[in-house]
Amino acid sequence: MIKALEETTEFLEARGFDKPEIGIILGTGLGKLIDELEIISEVSYNHIPGFPTATVEFHKGKLIFGKLDGKKVVVMQGRFHIYEGYSLWDVTYPVRVMKRLGIKKLLISNAAGSINPEFKKGEIMLIDDHINLQGGSPLAFKGVEHLGTRFTDMSAPYDQESGRILQEIAKENNINLRKGVYVAVTGPQLETRAEYRYLRIIGADAVGMSTVPEVIVANHLGIPIAAVSVLTDEGDPDNLQPVDIQDIIEAAGQAEPQMITLFRELIKRIKLKSIA
Ligand code: HPA
Repeated sequence: MIKALEETTEFLEARGFDKPEIGIILGTGLGKLIDELEIISEVSYNHIPGFPTATVEFHKGKLIFGKLDGKKVVVMQGRFHIYEGYSLWDVTYPVRVMKRLGIKKLLISNAAGSINPEFKKGEIMLIDDHINLQGGSPLAFKGVEHLGTRFTDMSAPYDQESGRILQEIAKENNINLRKGVYVAVTGPQLETRAEYRYLRIIGADAVGMSTVPEVIVANHLGIPIAAVSVLTDEGDPDNLQPVDIQDIIEAAGQAEPQMITLFRELIKRIKLKSIA
């Protein structure tokens, strides 16, 4: 486990991934932040030793190192999902690698379905807390106890300071940034009407198929996280419209400029404290 992580990290360092300060995971339909980057090095996932290989074709599947407003960042363009058949260890492997490379903050974006009736398609939600309905934990693997504490505290999984800054940026830029609870399901099927009703009852504001495993591992490693969901469809159980994945990707693309503003400004403003 540790050997594989060391090998991956050394490979990337040899390819010029030189002490990134911030890690960024870009979700479905949200890859354009890359255009803002001064790219120094990039490698396809399937050329990185130890990395799971990319499958879903709309993910470009690249790890990129570069500079954004003077800060060194490592960006995952596309992520791994359990619905593609990866284990939760695989899904979160890149977070462990980014930590070894040196990141002190992790920014995550995803596409999600709105559950809260007030939250509309096209809006962005700051993730304040989450519910894990993926039926497993990325920490429930043999040997993980050597990589951090076993019983990871999840009383405040998202960084409050980053959340506050994101809200400030949203206000300045007239972005109607919602705040709420994200529930992660396995997928890849979307929810039934009964499931949307259930998710609303248990306290979710948005539903998606990612992010929570990465957030659990980042907490395991002590990395502060800021995460946002782009709401791409509305899961209204009383008026449910069939969704198709192309619609979801398109809706994510429409909200992308706002997402870029939020992340870019956050990167400019965050102070990086050193973490263990
Ligand atoms: N459900 C689950 N995942 C999603 C959805 C949804 O409605 N929209 C985008 N990702």
